[in-house]
Amino acid sequence: MLKKKIISYMRVDDRVVEQLKQDFDVTCFYNHEYLGDAAFDHALQEADGIIGLALKVNKQLLQHAPKLKVVSNVSVGYDNLDIEEMTKRNIMATNTPGVLDDTTADAIFGLLIATARRIPELDSFVKEGNWNISLQPEQYGLDVHHKTLGIIGLGSIGSAIAKRAHFGFGMNILYHNRSRNKEAENTYSATYCELNELLENSDFVCLMVPATDKTKNMISASQFKSMKSTAIFINGSRGKNVDEAALYDALVDGEIHAAGVDVYKEEPTNKDNPLLRLHNIVTLPHIGSSTIECEYNMSKLAAENIKKALTGCKPPTLINK
Ligand code: DGY
Repeated sequence: MLKKKIISYMRVDDRVVEQLKQDFDVTCFYNHEYLGDAAFDHALQEADGIIGLALKVNKQLLQHAPKLKVVSNVSVGYDNLDIEEMTKRNIMATNTPGVLDDTTADAIFGLLIATARRIPELDSFVKEGNWNISLQPEQYGLDVHHKTLGIIGLGSIGSAIAKRAHFGFGMNILYHNRSRNKEAENTYSATYCELNELLENSDFVCLMVPATDKTKNMISASQFKSMKSTAIFINGSRGKNVDEAALYDALVDGEIHAAGVDVYKEEPTNKDNPLLRLHNIVTLPHIGSSTIECEYNMSKLAAENIKKALTGCKPPTLINK
């Protein structure tokens, strides 16, 4: 019997690709080229499924994929998928929630500490041979422990951040969410706040909401103005949720103290992005879930999803039920 055809796009663990090859005819693509690329277009015409990271699955792409039954994202976020259009066409969409919560929380809390304690800047200071005299007060960081952390979006990753903050650092947790998270209230003594109240009272503001039409630019000039001038803003969600020009102004005008940014509006961000010239920003290339172990676990779950979908079963983490 002819094997069903799968496109593996960008980051799927090699071991998982090899396992998929036992059951499917898999074609791999490793970069951002897609529509317009003859090999990709051909594979798309034939594909029963796609597994991968951040492929923009929109109406235009779907028009070139007549046989497609499933798109299995190797990520928890699925703002790259037009779920409405996929549902209309009876195409399943799946993601990888759960398996990345602790890994992403480690990265985002690490970014918070690195920003507060100026770790990248002081690392360069030592490596560049400038540690000739004792540290100057202008190089001091800010405390993290026992401060107030405001988490916007207290889902499973936000909760894993709250856990680290509460038990490890004795922090006071405020949160803003679509719905109350009673478990976090009981376990981490988290207090629910309206957004503005959270912004005004937090020493660290950590954005962890998914990217939707409702969250686009939800942190903009007026939200930065509401924050303390000593506040540190962390974006561990999606770049689209923040007005980057407003973030730049807030950092330059001293409306906030510093920012830690893992995500950008356009990724990879251009080296000319003005944010990259600022001394009070610590930045990463969207690495929340990027560890060897976590990438493997995400690929495994994504593979299980695509396998179930193409063998007539319900995938474990189906988005459009
Ligand atoms: C996720 O899983 O959504 C991570 O941000 C990687 O894209």
